[in-house]
Amino acid sequence: MTDRAQVIDDELAKARALPTTQRVFASQPKTFAEETRRREAGVIAFPDTPGRLAPLVPLIVSRASGCRIYDLDDNELVDLHMGYWTQILGHAPPVVVEAVKREIERGTIVGVNELEIRLGEYLLAHVACAELVCLTVTGTSAIMHALKAARAHRGRRRIAKLANAFHGHDNDVAMDLPEFQPGVPASDDTLVLSGSPEIFDVIRANADSLAGILVEPAPPVRDPKPFYDLAFFKELRRLTAELGIVLIFDEVLRGFRARFGGTLDDDGVIPDIACFGKIIGGGLPLAAVVGRRAVLEAGRSSGNPARDGGRVPLLGTYSGNRVACAAGLAQLEYIEQHQATLYPYLRDKAAWLGAEIAAHATEHALPITTAVMVGGMVMIKPTSGPVGPMHPVILLQTYLREQGCYFGGGPIQISAAHQPADLERVSSAVRAAMAAIAKDI
Ligand SMILES: Cc1ncc(COP(=O)(O)O)c(C=O)c1O
Repeated sequence: MTDRAQVIDDELAKARALPTTQRVFASQPKTFAEETRRREAGVIAFPDTPGRLAPLVPLIVSRASGCRIYDLDDNELVDLHMGYWTQILGHAPPVVVEAVKREIERGTIVGVNELEIRLGEYLLAHVACAELVCLTVTGTSAIMHALKAARAHRGRRRIAKLANAFHGHDNDVAMDLPEFQPGVPASDDTLVLSGSPEIFDVIRANADSLAGILVEPAPPVRDPKPFYDLAFFKELRRLTAELGIVLIFDEVLRGFRARFGGTLDDDGVIPDIACFGKIIGGGLPLAAVVGRRAVLEAGRSSGNPARDGGRVPLLGTYSGNRVACAAGLAQLEYIEQHQATLYPYLRDKAAWLGAEIAAHATEHALPITTAVMVGGMVMIKPTSGPVGPMHPVILLQTYLREQGCYFGGGPIQISAAHQPADLERVSSAVRAAMAAIAKDI
C-alpha cells in the first residue's frame, strides 16, 4: 500500500469515529442497511467511482420535491446538488411532471416522434451555431457524436482538450483526469493542452493532425485559470477558423444555465458544434448535438449508401424518446418565459451564498474558500491540500447532513425553488457545520 493510501485509511477511520459522523449514521438506519445490501448484492452506483474519495455517509434518495430531498429514513434535506445540476427549476417542477404524465401513456419509443422534431426545431431556433441538430441521451454520448462528426469532417483522428477539463466518460476525453486514470490507458488520439498562455502556439504546431478542439465555453470547473476569459475564447475561435479545426463547445453543464441558449452566443463566439445536456432534458436522459451544416452534414445519410463515404452514423436506441423530449421542452419553455427573473435570481443568490460561505470559513479559520460560477452555481474549494477524509471541505459533507443539507462535494446548485428563507437556512447550516468542524479537528 502506498503512503498516501495508508494516510487516507487512517483519516477515514478517524472521520468515521467522529461523534458527528456517528450521530448522522444513527439518524439513517434504513439507508445504511440498504447501502450495505447494495454493495453486497453487487449493484455498482455513482459513489463507487474509483480514484475519488467515496462519500463517508451514504445517501439513498426516496423522493424529491422543490429544493428538498428525502432519504430512505425520511430525513428531509435541503438539496445543494439538484440532480447533478439538472434541476434549475427545483425537483419535480409541475410543468415537467404534467408533460411527462401526458406523454408517457402515448408510448416511449416509436421511431421519429413529433416531440423530437419540436425539440430539435426549438434548439435550432435558440442556439446561434445550430444549423443542424441531432438528439441523443447523455452528455457523454453527445460529446462522442461531436467527436465523430469532427473527425469525419476533417478526416483526422486527433482531438485537443484542456487539461483537467471534464467532458464525460469517453476514454478519449477522460484520460487525463485523476479518477479516470485507473484502468484507462493513455490515448494518442488526444492532445491535452496545458493551461499555459502558449496554448495557441501548441495548437498551431499540431494543426495538421487535429480534427477538433473540445472546450467548455468557460474556465474548466477543476482548473479555472484566469486567462480562460472571453479574449481567450475569441482568439480560440479566430485561430481554429483560420486553421480549419472544428471548434466544439461542451455546453452540457453551462448551456441554458446562465442565459437562454449558448453561453457565448451574445458575445459572438460561435463554435462549429455545441453539445447540450442536463437542463435541456428537464431531469430526464436527453442531450443534443447542434452545429454548422458543413460539419454535422457528416452525420446524415444521403439516402444512397454508395455516396455516403466519410459519413458517420449518430444513432442510439433511446435518442429523442418522447417522454424525455416532453420534459425537456416543458423545462426549456418555462425557462424561456421566466428568463428575465430566473437568471438574475440564480446569479444574485449564488453571489450571496458564495460570500456567506467564504465568510463563515474565515470566521472559523478553515482552509476553505468559494468560487461563484455562472447560473446559480457555487464551488466550495480547499485553499490547501492534500484533500483527504479529514479535510474540512470533505467533512463539510457529513457535518452539513447533520444540519439538514445535502452537499455532494461538487458545485452547489441553487434552483428557482430555493427561496430566500431556504438559502438563509443553508447559510446558518454551513456556519454551524463549520463551527463544529473547527472544534473537532
Ligand atoms: C461539462 C460536462 N460535459 C459532459 C458531461 C457528461 O454528461 P453525462 O453525465 O450526461 O454523460 C458532464 C457531466 O457532468 C459535464 O459536466
